[in-house]
Amino acid sequence: MHTAELQSIPTLTQIGQGEGVYISTYGCQMNENDSERMMSLLEMMDFHSVPTPEQASLIIINSCSIREKPVHKVHSEVGRYRKMKEANPRLRIGVTGCVAQQEKDQLRADIPLLDFVLGTDAIDSLPEVIARVRLNNEPVVNARFQHQAPYHIETLIRNPGVSTFVNITKGCDNFCTFCVVPFTRGRERSRPLQHLLTDVQKLVDRGVREVTLLGQNVNSYESECGVNFAGLLKQLARQTGIERIRYTTSHPKDFNEELMDVMAEHQDKIMEFIHLPVQSGSSEVLERMHRGYSRDEYLGIVEMIYSRLPNAVLSTDIIVGFPGETEAQFQQTMSLLNEVAYENIFAFAYSPRPFTKAQHFSDQISESVKSQRLAQVLALHKETSYALAKQYLGQSLQILVEKFDDETGRVSGRSRQNKSVYFTGGRELIGQTVTVHIQEALPLVMRGERVV
Ligand code: SAH
Ligand code: SF4
Ligand code: F3S
Repeated sequence: MHTAELQSIPTLTQIGQGEGVYISTYGCQMNENDSERMMSLLEMMDFHSVPTPEQASLIIINSCSIREKPVHKVHSEVGRYRKMKEANPRLRIGVTGCVAQQEKDQLRADIPLLDFVLGTDAIDSLPEVIARVRLNNEPVVNARFQHQAPYHIETLIRNPGVSTFVNITKGCDNFCTFCVVPFTRGRERSRPLQHLLTDVQKLVDRGVREVTLLGQNVNSYESECGVNFAGLLKQLARQTGIERIRYTTSHPKDFNEELMDVMAEHQDKIMEFIHLPVQSGSSEVLERMHRGYSRDEYLGIVEMIYSRLPNAVLSTDIIVGFPGETEAQFQQTMSLLNEVAYENIFAFAYSPRPFTKAQHFSDQISESVKSQRLAQVLALHKETSYALAKQYLGQSLQILVEKFDDETGRVSGRSRQNKSVYFTGGRELIGQTVTVHIQEALPLVMRGERVV
């Protein structure tokens, strides 16, 4: 090849040519983090983020497969881009995330307009893949799991702000019978302890005050040198300058006293908000879900939490209409919701997922029963959550300020209990923790006044 020809081949850092990227993100915080990672990589290639797909020459749909609905949304979103693709031959469209991992080549076979399909372990190959689809115009499918590779990534985030997410594990080995995640995210791997300590300190140096540690089951974190989740929290609290630590999601079967001891000992840094998905209040249903705990064991954990940390705030996930769920078993979920004062719940109608055991259970529940049960759970929760929110009236909460809104002249942030609170204040408060007196309290958002 002549030197002149070589010079005309753009390097990876020039491929974007200043053009726009639109990423649409479905699903959980893992996907949010992956989207941010992709955008960081793409900016290194001279792309920039744009707010609408019409302004983009690269569109990425970062998909979720947890229930049927999000999968449909992915298909209909791609459909909306068909005309744009016909009108603009430079436009490249790809699907990443859990649907990409689940469907692999089949997704491109079903939707030939896709230029690339990237699985959940292939995010870091994005620059190379974009180079291939842009320069050679060749479609790429890369959805192989890196089961054996160690999980060595550094948090990549453009503007971390005050509060950010940090992955500590990837994948899941629990194989709950309803859940697709073990098939879309692969085997569980933990990041090395030292990497996490350095990563969090670097974020602190960039102005981050709060991290939320992320994993499908953070409680089964285990570093290469055998440090468990409680040990990780302790070291993060002691050895980094982070002000607030949160984590999600906890699995009840791995939630132990040692963790509560660390939380109780480091209340200055570890927030007392715990998302502890129960899924069902019936031990028989939990057994068929393969959750690894009974109703009584779950309630025992809740009791242990309150005994060590009386001011703990809990939230949960519920599935209604799991195959074979009888009316009596469903009522046990309702009674559990009465027993445990969850401030927030995420409730879903069971949705059969590919590869999972429960999709083959013969006693599937009708859609009408599922939606009727879902409505009952939501109605019950509405009642309790308003009552629980009222308890905050007149209290003084510690708010870490995250945002300032120009139009209203208000700042907003979250309390230790993860309540969103807004109040009148200036931009200079961003990043500060201030005391706010609560004057209006709804379940999802509260209004207050700063106490100075
Ligand atoms: N790792 C987390 C859950 C991640 S998925 C945990 O174990 O708690 C988030 C939530 O989606 C689950 O807690 C569950 O309530 C819901 N979910 C998962 N699969 C589902 C399915 N097939 N149908 C309905 N809801 C589901
Ligand atoms: Fe899914 Fe269960 Fe793993 Fe959570 S613990 S991601 S529900 S398999
Ligand atoms: Fe969805 Fe995958 Fe998260 S299925 S909920 S994006 S792990």
